[in-house]
Amino acid sequence: MQTYRLALIGFGNVGQGFAEILRDRSADLAQRFDVQFQIVAVSTKRRGSVYDARGLDLAALLSAVTAPGGLESLPVQQRGWDPLRLIRESNAEVVVEVSPTDLQTAEPALSHVRAALEAGKHVVTANKGPVALAYAELAALARARGKTLGVEGTVMGGTPVLRLGQELLSAAGIHQMQGILNGTTNYILTQMENGATYAAALAEAQARGYAEADPTADVEGYDVAGKVVILANLFLGAGLTPAQVDRQGITQLTPDDIAAARAAGERWKLIGRVERQGGQLAASVRPTRLPLAHPLAGVSGAGNALTFSTDLLGDVTLAGAGAGRVETGYAILGDLLALHRQTRG
Ligand code: HSE
Repeated sequence: MQTYRLALIGFGNVGQGFAEILRDRSADLAQRFDVQFQIVAVSTKRRGSVYDARGLDLAALLSAVTAPGGLESLPVQQRGWDPLRLIRESNAEVVVEVSPTDLQTAEPALSHVRAALEAGKHVVTANKGPVALAYAELAALARARGKTLGVEGTVMGGTPVLRLGQELLSAAGIHQMQGILNGTTNYILTQMENGATYAAALAEAQARGYAEADPTADVEGYDVAGKVVILANLFLGAGLTPAQVDRQGITQLTPDDIAAARAAGERWKLIGRVERQGGQLAASVRPTRLPLAHPLAGVSGAGNALTFSTDLLGDVTLAGAGAGRVETGYAILGDLLALHRQTRG
């Protein structure tokens, strides 16, 4: 049995969702894949930081994070270490970066990822900032150190769209991608079609753990712009930045707009798109009215979908969960299992 020791930087929805998966499925993972993932360190901004070289108890960790004393009420070897110290000095072999995304500076996640790779640790992250703003640099650093950089959770949560593109479609000639890439806004639009107000639908999306820490990123289209840049970085080899994406969110859509689309047999969706046009890339995020028969029109709630347009296969579309605690937590597990397959050879 191979054991991987993990340090979690951030322990919000995604980190907790991942810990819940490990708590519930460790025996199955051990039996089916001969692998054990052991969380040895967790760092949070407001709920404390803990490290125990022998491993942390998952059930205790999950109760403590929401209890009055926070994580530091746990009986562990070390408390209060800052993220960089945990990254450099803990015995973790893999750093799981799941702190909140900042699409303007990518920090502090960018420093965490750099420090981890420089310290010779593998990195798995669902944080969009470093992957949107510094993917080329980080991928080169990972290659130079012989470490992996897993980023599946940055687009479409645990639905394995990046792995599909990287491992199975990269030779097919991807020249355009378009899809629904934000669970929060798709949930809001679906709820508004069903008669809910914008405010109530947004509050519900926050309660369900779909929204970013600051939901402006979702509703104004910044989150999708970041994901479009990630897709461009991974599949079109581009130096696109989020600021270059022609972006509009859903905040200007009114209940009347939604009713008018419905009366015309159409539906509003927030569509992210990036394509090669000559030697250039064109990228956009726009609320778009789609006929109900369009493949993306049927994607509802927090669902996401992405269509790859390729030279050899035409269009290939993948649909599935795009946000949510366990749904994104699963992306972390997917990247860890890929690391395990690679290590085992
Ligand atoms: N806030 C994001 C969304 C989370 O709603 O899609 C997943 O990236």
